[in-house]
Amino acid sequence: MKRIAIFASGSGSNAEQISHHFKGRTDVQVSLILTNNPTAGVIQRARKLHIPVVIFDRTLFYESNRVVELLLNAGIDLVVLAGFMMQVPANLINAYPNRMLNIHPALLPRYGGKGMYGHFVHEAVVAAGERQSGISIHYVNEAYDEGEIVYQATVELDPTDTPDEVARKVQVLEHLHYPRIVDEVVSALNDE
Ligand code: GAR
Repeated sequence: MKRIAIFASGSGSNAEQISHHFKGRTDVQVSLILTNNPTAGVIQRARKLHIPVVIFDRTLFYESNRVVELLLNAGIDLVVLAGFMMQVPANLINAYPNRMLNIHPALLPRYGGKGMYGHFVHEAVVAAGERQSGISIHYVNEAYDEGEIVYQATVELDPTDTPDEVARKVQVLEHLHYPRIVDEVVSALNDE
């Protein structure tokens, strides 16, 4: 059995889609959902899915090894960031080399980096008059949004699209592809 932990800070629609995808599977399980935000929508979604939730604060995340220990003790094989809005500290990245995925709501390397998350990304894409946007699923390393890209998908934009409309189009791609790519990556991991 391979075990996945999902980190999310907000609504958690991607966390939910991924969890649904693996429901009833005997080879892969979403074992834990973790959040830094005590009011995040993902908490309710996790409860409905009967997946344990861990809420942690900034001090615990950045100034202790507790989150890493928790993941290791739970036998987590793959960490999946799904709308997780904090930079991942080195101790966590080092504990999961090539075993941590993120989804970014644009076509990296453009519209990535500091300050480029959530709605800010779609606002920047519209402001630049882009005719395309999309999703980038990538491994997480120390350099923000610069880990190896595993998969990208694009969507056409209309000149009249607002940032909200771009967000909706991108979200369709996220829900369609992220569970499938997580499945491919987790299934290819070697048992140790
Ligand atoms: C998603 O669009 C995800 O790509 C984005 O946050 C949203 C979370 O939605 N992530 C980032 O911007 C990370 N830099 P969700 O909470 O409904 O899954």
